[in-house]
Amino acid sequence: MDTKWIRIENPQAPKEEELQAAARVIREGGLVAFPTETVYGLGANALDEEAARKIYAAKGRPSDNPLIAHIASLKGLEPLVTDVSKVGKELAQAFWPGPLTLVFPKSGLVPYGTTGGLDTVAIRMPSDPVAKGVIALAGVPVAAPSANRSGRPSPTTARHVWQDMEGRIDMLLDGGQVGIGLESTIVDVTGTIPVLLRPGAVTMEMLEAVVGAVEVDPAIQGPLTAGMPPKAPGMKYRHYAPKAELTLVEGAEEAVVSKVNQLAKEKLAAGFRVGILGTEETRGRYPHGIVRSVGARGQEEAIAHNLFAILREFDDLQVEYIFSESFSQDHLGQAIMNRLTKAAGYRKVQV
Ligand code: TXA
Ligand code: MG
Repeated sequence: MDTKWIRIENPQAPKEEELQAAARVIREGGLVAFPTETVYGLGANALDEEAARKIYAAKGRPSDNPLIAHIASLKGLEPLVTDVSKVGKELAQAFWPGPLTLVFPKSGLVPYGTTGGLDTVAIRMPSDPVAKGVIALAGVPVAAPSANRSGRPSPTTARHVWQDMEGRIDMLLDGGQVGIGLESTIVDVTGTIPVLLRPGAVTMEMLEAVVGAVEVDPAIQGPLTAGMPPKAPGMKYRHYAPKAELTLVEGAEEAVVSKVNQLAKEKLAAGFRVGILGTEETRGRYPHGIVRSVGARGQEEAIAHNLFAILREFDDLQVEYIFSESFSQDHLGQAIMNRLTKAAGYRKVQV
């Protein structure tokens, strides 16, 4: 299939005629990749089971991993769910449109092909003007996973999407680089106490400020043990996986730098290509390997923004081992460390 690449002239204020063709593709059961404020999404009609099947095929994704349905306004929520809990209402009011996905009990309108067989449906109202515009013009809820091939880091630029999806989808809307760079926060609001299923830019602290107590799905913290299924089925797959073996090094700065240097030297001596994921503060202290700074330690937004692009760059450079510094778990740090820990397959060295 020929994939059309359409550049949006001003992504902050897209013109309707720039989005019409994409909306038509979605209405007619095709696949369109588009920017959102978190990462690029791969959109199709969420009410069309056949379209959902095409998404799974294009991504190479297991079909028991449910899709998020994206809506353009609150009016879009009601037909998709059977109940909106008090906490669901409060969180939607506080953070929509934005980088928050809420899980509700699904209505009969939403096919099991979209929810991976679950009786719940994940819903998000994005704030990105291109995403919002396409969904509104399509006139249907839009199922959109991140627009990467399964197992690759989520795309934060149109070029990343092209790398993974050229020839596999109908259209790519190029809205430039996304703002946040990590996927949305997911919260299950089917019960009385909300449960955090995936950390993101709407942080634990922000959720608690609105609804008080929030539980955390154990799948976020560490590897799952047998018989303990994650509530977000996608969390059981080794997501965000760079091709290289990634190891996280945790501890005080000096100790981390010297451990990373030692580990890198060992692999380089054995003839491997080595990547080092450092920070503005430490980048000058790594004399060996391919060194990238993910940002300054104090600027979590920048770290979130750069992380997936650097992991992809290491893939492109055919790096075989990556050694990475660790970050604090507070605020946005929880989402950063969640993605890094999963990319590392939980491989961590403490110094
Ligand atoms: O920021 C985002 O959320 C991006 C943009 C495109 O909106 N989308 C995204 O979709 O990250 P995806 O498919 O890559 O990740 C969706 C996650 C998966 O881990 C999936 O298992 C979980 O959401 N999920 C979807 N429906 C669910 C449900 N009904 N209950 C629990 N988890 C669900
Ligand atoms: Mg994804």
